[in-house]
Amino acid sequence: MSPTDSLRRDHLLIEKMINALKIVSSMLREGKSIPSPILKQAIDFSINFTNTCHHGKEEESLFPALEKKGMPKQGGPIARMLYEHEITTNLASAIVASTESYLHGSEADRLVSDIDNYVEHVEMHLAKENQRLFVMADMILSDQSLDVDQELEVVEKTKLESMNQSRHHYEKIVDELEAINK
Ligand SMILES: [Fe+2]
Ligand SMILES: [Fe+2]
Repeated sequence: MSPTDSLRRDHLLIEKMINALKIVSSMLREGKSIPSPILKQAIDFSINFTNTCHHGKEEESLFPALEKKGMPKQGGPIARMLYEHEITTNLASAIVASTESYLHGSEADRLVSDIDNYVEHVEMHLAKENQRLFVMADMILSDQSLDVDQELEVVEKTKLESMNQSRHHYEKIVDELEAINK
């Protein structure tokens, strides 16, 4: 086991959502309409799973563990990741607003560009973590893999419970959205 296994599992789920959002965006561009429950599920996942649960695990467990090992909070990879989480949150808020307008009859253009901006940013962020930060974390925290993993699970459980949700709920959303163009 490596200390970032749980976070990498989250990334696989988030990547599936990103792929579903790409399909939603191209369907909208082709003039097809997307039913409200699909958009609402994508928003539920992006805000509650990605922002609250996954970013919570990184910010409350992984980053502090790295800081304890001497990685600076200011001016290094941690500060950069925190800044990118903020951007992710803002881009998700933009999707919430443009979905609202779309469902009230506005053209899909703004929703399409908000989804595309979100997809581009999150893909870049996940790649950066997978290829750089997590690789460093696996080395730096190799002597405490089990502790870090257990702490990540505790944060995940706490976050999901505070939203009255389960990981299964978000896995199911991803499965349903993956089937969108079938
Ligand atoms: Fe992150
Ligand atoms: Fe992440």
